[in-house]
Amino acid sequence: MINEVVVPKNAEFASFRWWERGIIYQIYPRSFMDSNGDGIGDLSGIRSKLDYLQWLGVDAIWISPIYPSPMADFGYDVSNYTDIDPIFGTLAEFAALLADVHARDIKLLLDYVPNHTSDHHPWFVESRSSRRSAKRDWYIWRDPAPDGGPPNNWRANFGGGAWEWDERTGQYYYHAFLKEQPDLNWRNPEVQRAMLDVLRFWLERGVDGFRVDVMHHLAKDTEFRDNPANADFKPGMSPYRELLATYTADLPEVQEIVAMMRGVVEEYDDRMLVGEIYLPVERLMAYYGASGKGAHLPFNFQLIRLPWKAEEIAAAVERYEALLPSYAWPNWVLGNHDKSRIATRAGPAQAGVAAMLLLTLRGTPTMYYGDEIGMRDVPIPIDRVQDPFEKNVPGLGLGRDPVRTPMQWSAGHGAGFTRGVPWLPLGVDYATNNVALLKDNPKSILSLYHRLIELRRSELALSVGEYAPLPAGEDLIAYMRNAGERRLLIVLNFGSQERRFNISELEAQASLLLSTYLDREHEKLGAELELRSDEGVIVELR
Ligand code: NOJ
Repeated sequence: MINEVVVPKNAEFASFRWWERGIIYQIYPRSFMDSNGDGIGDLSGIRSKLDYLQWLGVDAIWISPIYPSPMADFGYDVSNYTDIDPIFGTLAEFAALLADVHARDIKLLLDYVPNHTSDHHPWFVESRSSRRSAKRDWYIWRDPAPDGGPPNNWRANFGGGAWEWDERTGQYYYHAFLKEQPDLNWRNPEVQRAMLDVLRFWLERGVDGFRVDVMHHLAKDTEFRDNPANADFKPGMSPYRELLATYTADLPEVQEIVAMMRGVVEEYDDRMLVGEIYLPVERLMAYYGASGKGAHLPFNFQLIRLPWKAEEIAAAVERYEALLPSYAWPNWVLGNHDKSRIATRAGPAQAGVAAMLLLTLRGTPTMYYGDEIGMRDVPIPIDRVQDPFEKNVPGLGLGRDPVRTPMQWSAGHGAGFTRGVPWLPLGVDYATNNVALLKDNPKSILSLYHRLIELRRSELALSVGEYAPLPAGEDLIAYMRNAGERRLLIVLNFGSQERRFNISELEAQASLLLSTYLDREHEKLGAELELRSDEGVIVELR
């Protein structure tokens, strides 16, 4: 049974754009649902799970890359931007998926990978064929340093130097990630035209926007100066971080490129851009663009990057809110395909608190598939490692396979994900932690996500209301979300001890709307709100 979509009937709500009031759900396509038994998820698989996504109540899905790719970086090495990899399906299957998604009033975002192509992309094949190739300047080629070595000290994100020697033409090319991912030269107008046309290709087909891969990397120093040492580097960190990315990321020219992308998206109605940007929040703000003509949402990764401590998170939320320019809409991300899952980072007991935080903060929430059933990082035996990051820089815990394991749909064969052999191992807990079982359990994390989303969709205060922080004691975060007369109080206990929160000062009658334990609805509250360990609550004040 599909629930009716709950939308607050209020004119104010309608004045917000879908990407402001909605919830984004990230699908890692290799691991969501496999329809053909090859052990790898595909578009038809996603299509078969739209009932579930509609039941869950998300407003938009973002699908990580599905384009033809040699899969050196599992799709982030694109060899053709305007087709679908046969592993995932066909353009016709994509059209069918998009039509079904739209029929459910859900939006679809694609992943746009503008910084680099695959080394198999015909552009790069041509570029590397000769120094006189018409596409030579589409990539970043440099002569060796006087000693014959690489032109400078730039490093690759996935280990080793960023320059790859090309024997045939006697020059190095630059790659910010794998050597199989040569960086495009966005200073070249032909590259700009070709890559902006890629956006148009998909916009014409009806996609609602893009998540833009490593947006801050798009321009590099024209003088190719050495990057300086990072004084904060400590052993155990990724070797890439030994240097600061001063001359390889977040250059002022990036903003011009972002503005071009925004210009293209604005040729169409109601479409949007989300930028993947790992920068301090102060710098993140620039990506909204001067006067808001940059990315609609520069991803805010603070909930992923900060230690799971009430004080630090509360301070970060306030700081972020204070830094936002007047035209900027906030957003929050709890997980993605590159970082440890929330139920592992914060611990399973805090997963519900994290869900409540994500879905009650002001700003567009982005959820990562499987977090709604409390999936955890899955340890990967060495002989099953797939991620090139782990292969290049082993043993530091940088590998991303643990967070990309198959969605756990049921206790059946292959966790209901595949009838074949899954490309990554299944979580050992799949027999008890799966959609089928948790959906039927009214106290499960999945039921909590469902309730929270339902509430967010029906409460203007939660989706688009104002945010006001409140002082709170140890281990607690408290804030109000208000819309007109409607006042909702959120209090979250990040600790494993019981805590109290004084509500008498709020001078209102308080009744509990939702607890992360899913057992206190409609409870009338006195002067003190009692919170159990790891409990979060939403309280209605009248
Ligand atoms: C960021 C993506 O999220 C990650 O998965 C990918 O490996 C790199 N960009 C390179 O495209």
